[in-house]
Amino acid sequence: MRVLVVGSGGREHALAWKIAQSPLVRALFAAPGNPGLGRLATLVPLKAGDVEGLTAFAVRERIDFVVIGPEAPLVAGLVDRLAAAGILAFGPTAGAARIEGSKAFAKEVMIAAGIPTAAFATFTEPKGALAWAASRGGQVVVKADGLAAGKGVVVCGGIEEAKVAIREILVERVHGAAGATLLLEEKLAGPEASCIAFTDGVRVRMLPAAQDHKRIFDGDRGPNTGGMGAFCPTPKVQAALLAEIERTVLLPAVRELARRGHPFRGALYAGLMLTPDGPRVLEFNARLGDPETQPILMRLRGDLVPALLAVARGDLTAVTLDVDSRASVGVVLAAEGYPGKVTTGDVIAGLDATLGADQQLFQAGTASGPGGQVVTAGGRVLTVCALGATHAEAMERAYDAVGKVSFRGMQYRTDIGGSA
Ligand code: AMP
Ligand code: GLY
Repeated sequence: MRVLVVGSGGREHALAWKIAQSPLVRALFAAPGNPGLGRLATLVPLKAGDVEGLTAFAVRERIDFVVIGPEAPLVAGLVDRLAAAGILAFGPTAGAARIEGSKAFAKEVMIAAGIPTAAFATFTEPKGALAWAASRGGQVVVKADGLAAGKGVVVCGGIEEAKVAIREILVERVHGAAGATLLLEEKLAGPEASCIAFTDGVRVRMLPAAQDHKRIFDGDRGPNTGGMGAFCPTPKVQAALLAEIERTVLLPAVRELARRGHPFRGALYAGLMLTPDGPRVLEFNARLGDPETQPILMRLRGDLVPALLAVARGDLTAVTLDVDSRASVGVVLAAEGYPGKVTTGDVIAGLDATLGADQQLFQAGTASGPGGQVVTAGGRVLTVCALGATHAEAMERAYDAVGKVSFRGMQYRTDIGGSA
């Protein structure tokens, strides 16, 4: 079959790496992709958010199956448009992707389905929001309702911080229309885990649980980022807890979305905090995580394409996921300045270094430079992954591969996997 991967990050590179290994796949395309994806797929110069352009391309090129990585095209209705054109896609419709596109809608679904989550209230005016925050001594989390490229969440340590966050989002509209509605949440504490399931709208198949490292610096210090690395599995979520999360979080969400006429077919991501009172949902995403996908896919054995197709066709009955017993670690190499304004255009050395069978480099913010070299082109540049018999061994192998790559200003955490 002819397959198109939509997106250009490490997640999409890892997806394409698995998809390219499938005997079912005759031709692979990526839009817009990156130079790493370009080694596996024919690159198509269309943006991930270009719903009309991507649909026209898929029709013209007789694409059989489209695999969509990022949330923006899902929320914008790419799957709906492709379906109308008779093209099968992995990913939810716009109606189902609202679980990520609107945090208020996600809360509504959670309440209706009895899914454990932080106490919250929604506001469109600062006055009520300030009163709610004050009543909790400012120990709140302020969230823009809509998509804000992972930046619309402020965890507040006191009322002054809450005031600033409420004003920025609701009044100054620093995230634009995404901040027209504001959510305030009770501030929870505990380790976090990413629990992602493939779902066909009815059934779910849990992927192994992962842990992301959102802060820029070692020891979980400094500002939040899109993710500086992840490892899988996380010892914080053993089999019994994963089964509980499937039963109390993923399945109820899938049932509630179906009941509302929006069956969710794709990867449903529950971002959880493991509190002393049990797991609580912080957010749902309508897609695979980045960087979690990279270490997760390192552990999936066998052909991924039949599972993706079964999700899209709405029947996971025959699918079981074959997971490698080894641990995996993925370390993000970021550009100078990240998570703020980054420098780009620095030549990346070592991309052709010899790696072991269980080490992989996945490209994200990269571009082809003038001399044919690969240069940096974004905040998160690469995810360097490795498998190991233990987390410690996976970590050692991952950092061994990190040592083979370099670019000016390269920054990364040295403790990814250490907490496992
Ligand atoms: P989100 O995009 O909603 O997952 O939030 C981003 C990050 O903010 C999460 O990974 C948590 O570290 C933190 N966060 C979100 N909601 C809460 C909460 N209710 N309590 C404490 N921390 C939170
Ligand atoms: N790594 C967090 C996310 O994908 O949303």
